Amino acid sequence: MTEKDFLPGAYQKLPKNGKVTWKAPSNIALVKYWGKKPVQIPANPSISFTLDSCATTTSISFDKKENKDEFSFDLLFEGKPKQDFKPKIQAFLERVEKYLPFLKAYHFTIETSNSFPHSSGIASSASGMAALSLCLMDIESLLDPTIDQTLFHAKASFLARLGSGSACRSIKGSLVQWGAHPNIPNSSDLYGIEYPFDVGPVFEDYCDTILLVHKGQKQVSSTVGHQLMHGHPFAQNRFQQAFSNLDRLKPILASGNLEEFIKLVESEALTLHAMMMTSMPYFILMKPDTLQIINKIWQYREETKTPVCFTLDAGANVHMLYPSSVREKVLAFAREELAVHCENGQYINDQVGEGAIKINDQR
Ligand code: DP6
Repeated sequence: MTEKDFLPGAYQKLPKNGKVTWKAPSNIALVKYWGKKPVQIPANPSISFTLDSCATTTSISFDKKENKDEFSFDLLFEGKPKQDFKPKIQAFLERVEKYLPFLKAYHFTIETSNSFPHSSGIASSASGMAALSLCLMDIESLLDPTIDQTLFHAKASFLARLGSGSACRSIKGSLVQWGAHPNIPNSSDLYGIEYPFDVGPVFEDYCDTILLVHKGQKQVSSTVGHQLMHGHPFAQNRFQQAFSNLDRLKPILASGNLEEFIKLVESEALTLHAMMMTSMPYFILMKPDTLQIINKIWQYREETKTPVCFTLDAGANVHMLYPSSVREKVLAFAREELAVHCENGQYINDQVGEGAIKINDQR
């Protein structure tokens, strides 16, 4: 599909009011997106596991209004008005209006909440933008019943990408790929697709224990980090590496070769942080406890031969990935050895999930 496919069709009569609710999960990238061009076009392809319990639930109530000159919305986060999220939503609505021209015809009440602890340092922009985009698509499909499931999901992902790049990987599928790649059929810079190749059963319920090392505000946002890839001395090599890592991942995912999976995933995580450390200005998002956890995971893997590995997002938290067959012993390891490195001893046990779901139909 191209951008044109996401331009709206003819709308039927606009309903007066209604309400839609969607729950969208967070995701964790195996091959990382780091670097982009306007508007929200990734410099390299990426792939992620969709998570299960880390999710955002968003409801939008919509009421037809007289004045169609401006956007009008209220925002409630965990039941309370949240002024500081409003500029981000306003900017998002402006960016997607071309694709959803009904936006100014309604007053929206947006209610959103996260399943994970507030300010746990877990990126809520991916699940948040995905849930919001799905609600808006749901409203659009009331106005245009010709929208089929394929277009619905692709356009939801397309819109989510315009809110936050990684959000386009939080719509559908347990393993989602985003970014045009010559060897991946139907891959696109515009939206995420369900990974189209064989994936071994070991990955179907792969586990992710998220060790919450630092819950405060990051010193450098992802947005700034992406920008610093422009003129970065290693950028071109890094982008090339991501392309070839997606090729390398294909037989690894099909065969379930965990030894090779671990090497690729850990190398991707450290490369992401190496890009941060070698940009100008340079910065470090890992904390001493991040490194302590990484070293303990390496030591545990060496001593017990358990196929556990780590990955990192753009922050200090560590995602510990492992097959469900070793869940009990790895959870004991997390409890006994790693919790001490987490802020207030907090960590979240999650696993690969199936993608976003519609919560109820209150049309
Ligand atoms: C390190 O999607 O948060 O998590 O597009 O500016 O909103 P924006 O950035 P964002 O970047 C995520 C980067 C990452 C890697 C990844 O998820 O692929």
